Parts: sequence; structure tokens; C-alpha cells
Amino acid sequence: MKAIIATDEAAGTTGMTLAERPQPQAAINDVTVEVHASGFVPTELSWPSTWTDRIGQRRTPSIPGHEFAGVVTALGYGTTGLSLGQRAFGLTDWYRDGTLAEYVAVEARNLAPLPGDVEFTVGASLPISGLTAWQALFQHGRLQAGQSVLVHGAAGAVGSIATQLAREFGAYVIGTGRAADRQKSLEFGANEFVDLANDTLEEIGSIDLALDMIGGEIQKRSAGLVRPGGALVSVVGPVEARPADGLAIDFVVESDRAQLGEIVQRVRDGRLRTNIDHISTLDNAVAAFNSTERRTGKTIIRTSV
Ligand SMILES: NC(=O)c1ccc[n+]([C@@H]2O[C@H](COP(=O)([O-])OP(=O)(O)OC[C@H]3O[C@@H](n4cnc5c(N)ncnc54)[C@H](OP(=O)(O)O)[C@@H]3O)[C@@H](O)[C@H]2O)c1
Repeated sequence: MKAIIATDEAAGTTGMTLAERPQPQAAINDVTVEVHASGFVPTELSWPSTWTDRIGQRRTPSIPGHEFAGVVTALGYGTTGLSLGQRAFGLTDWYRDGTLAEYVAVEARNLAPLPGDVEFTVGASLPISGLTAWQALFQHGRLQAGQSVLVHGAAGAVGSIATQLAREFGAYVIGTGRAADRQKSLEFGANEFVDLANDTLEEIGSIDLALDMIGGEIQKRSAGLVRPGGALVSVVGPVEARPADGLAIDFVVESDRAQLGEIVQRVRDGRLRTNIDHISTLDNAVAAFNSTERRTGKTIIRTSV
């Protein structure tokens, strides 16, 4: 099968190449899926799991990409919950070969059915950013209606979904980003927007929840804005600053079939709009990931077998 491979950790996305790889086989509890569309988070080339297995041994060449939508083509021994020919979408294991390929093997429990009226490209854009936003707001941030939430990077993939979900659940959303992101953030539902380069973040006053997709100084200043009893939730690594009288939490997104179902249902009924900036093919994927154009939103790779 055709796949994008990464072999050179130092080279980043420029070191990725299109190659021929053996088709993966479904192990116990796995399905093999014909990939129709795949997402990719550029930072995954800096994750240890892209280069080593769970006991730390090199596993290159590795196939990046860990979110996708496709059609089940084989069931492993003992696999239940999905059937042959079923449309499915979800997250794949960080430590296994991923989804920038014509086929992927993945544990069935990591996937959810993809309804027939949701395009594969849309399905592939939802697992990482949708689940991250959902888990940040509701599982870790314990957001309640009427609370205020600061969403950093609100025009980005995670931020745009977090903004929409938080508004739907009755929160007041302050989005942040670059000057050029203002309009897009407001269109996704932010009640107000802070241009981090030109506005003063502290002028927003205190907030119940800060969702950090940026880190560094911005994270430290955000911790100082969290009200007593509130929380700072980071998805960019261990928190470096804690609210004086609140929680600081960092996490890595996990698969959850029920949450995938909640997210895709919202896309179907129009409550949630995904944030795809660019769609490319597997043959052109490396060029797409190395484009110099500014992209706010996801690059999705359409795969045709
Ligand atoms: N822990 C997890 O499970 C998890 C899951 C998903 C994502 N993540 C991480 O979360 C981060 C965001 O992911 P994403 O997919 O939402 O990325 P994204 O689509 O690139 O969105 C990030 C947004 O924040 C903006 N931004 C970044 N730095 C900024 C700064 N200093 N000032 C103003 N705006 C800034 C970006 O603008 P520019 O594009 O102009 O920089 C972009 O609009 C990434 O680091 C990703 O690795 C973690």
C-alpha cells in the first residue's frame, strides 16, 4: 500500500516521504480499515511515540497521522462492535503506524460508526480536535453553564470546536489568537476576542476556565486570571503555572466512542462546524504539510485506494 513515512526525526515534515509499505494485518480486537481521509497534527513529529514503541525501541520508518475516517475491511480475532463494510472514524494508537496510508490497523474500541451523511473528510477532521475540546471543557475543566472560558488559539482546530461547544453549553467565551484570527473566532461563536500581540489579556478580568493551546508566557499570564475554584487546562504539555486557588491540569486526548458520537451528531444537526482549511491527496500530502501558506484549521488528506 501507499503510505507517508517518517524516518528522520530532525527533518520534521520536510523529511516525510511517500513510500510503499506492507498492508497492516488486524490483530486481536483490531479492525483493518481502508482509509478514505486522514488528519495530521504537525507536532506529532516531536512526540516520542512517533519514533519508538512502548518499550522505547526505534520503530522507524513510522507512518504518521492518528485520526481518520474509512471503511472496515477486516476484523481481527475476537473483534466486536464494528462490522465489515462499516463506515468508521476515530483515533489510532500513538505508538502504532498511523493513518497517512491506504490502510490502518486499529483497536475497534478506538472507533465509532461514521453516519452515512457525514463525508469522510469531515469525519477525519473531528477525532483529535473534537475529543480534545470535549475532554478539556467537560471532563477536565468541568465547565458549567454561565461560566466564562478563555479559549486560546480560538481560530485553530481545537479552539474553534471548544468555542462552539462552550457556547452551546451556555458559557461565555473569550477567544484569543493573532489579529488575523479575530473574524474567524467571532464567527465560530466567541463572545469577544483578544489579539494577543496588540490587546492586553489581563483586561478581560477573571475567568472560570482557561483552555491553553499555546503555552509559555501566555499560559503563565492566564493562570493568574483564573478565579478561586476555577481551572487552567493545558493541551500543550505539563503546566508551568498554576492558578493561585484553582486546578492546573494537562492531558493527552483519549479515544471515547460515546464522545465521538456526541460530536458527530452535532455536526449532522448543524450545532458544530468543523474547521478544515485545506484538503490534499496522499500523493501531495508532503507538499501540503510543507506549504508556506498560513493555515488556520486542519489539513485533511483524502486517500483513494
Ligand atoms: N494534548 C493533546 O491531546 C492535544 C490534542 C490536540 C492538539 N494538541 C496541541 O494543541 C495545540 C493546538 O492544536 P491545534 O490543532 O488547535 O493547532 P492549530 O490549528 O494550529 O491552532 C492553534 C491556533 O493558535 C494560534 N497561535 C499559536 N501561537 C500563538 C501565539 N503565540 N499568539 C497568537 N496565536 C497563536 C495559531 O496561529 P498560527 O497558526 O498563526 O500560529 C492557531 O490559530 C498544538 O500544540 C497541538 O499539538 C494537543
